[in-house]
Amino acid sequence: MLCTNPFRKYRKRREYLEAAIPKGFHKKLLIFNGQVVGQIEYAPAEACGYPITGNGVIVMNCIWVLRKAKGRNLGKQLLTDMMQSEKKAVGFATIALENHWSPWFKKWHMEKLGFKSLDSVKVVHKTKHKGERFRIHLMWLPTTKNANPSTWDKSKLLEGEDFCLAHPLYHQEKPKLKEILEKC
Ligand SMILES: CC(C)(COP(=O)(O)OP(=O)(O)OC[C@H]1O[C@@H](n2cnc3c(N)ncnc32)[C@H](O)[C@@H]1OP(=O)(O)O)[C@@H](O)C(=O)NCCC(=O)NCCS
Repeated sequence: MLCTNPFRKYRKRREYLEAAIPKGFHKKLLIFNGQVVGQIEYAPAEACGYPITGNGVIVMNCIWVLRKAKGRNLGKQLLTDMMQSEKKAVGFATIALENHWSPWFKKWHMEKLGFKSLDSVKVVHKTKHKGERFRIHLMWLPTTKNANPSTWDKSKLLEGEDFCLAHPLYHQEKPKLKEILEKC
């Protein structure tokens, strides 16, 4: 199932999917008793939603399991499914947040799934929770010992992302800003 809502506020999502799907984007849903209880979304680095790069790297845009379904190994199953589907990948990358006010992308959640922090940047949001500093981490899960770790463009990261409206780093259209985050 793909989110291709025609309403204007999803225009960026539609544009992202149109560009990313032919390059290997995948979204997988975990369905229990007819209800979606989890999902994972990933793509090769060149088609991912973050400024993350790396040859043969797959970037996990997002993963979640509903609270009522948590603790049943379903998150790990989604991750394992991604890894088994992408056997040629040298490693998997994603982001994580530390001290961010939202419940999403918590560093310890990503660590529980097996990712480790490679690098981080301390930032503040320009319009939300002003003055609250948080850290964005580049998270890495290699498949082989000598895999070249992925890298990221920290300046581009400050612009936020627009592939998902629910993302804590979503770049809203208003107010018009080039960068929604500021390094500190
Ligand atoms: C991270 C997440 C996907 C894990 O899903 P889950 O189904 O609850 O996790 P699992 O049952 O597969 O557990 C994975 C590991 O974490 C551990 N774990 C899970 N919940 C834990 C908790 N509350 N405390 C300690 N360890 C925990 C498990 O023991 C397991 O470790 P193991 O492999 O060493 O046994 C889930 O917590 C989640 O959806 N978090 C929010 C993710 C998010 O922010 N997404 C972005 C949305 S915009």
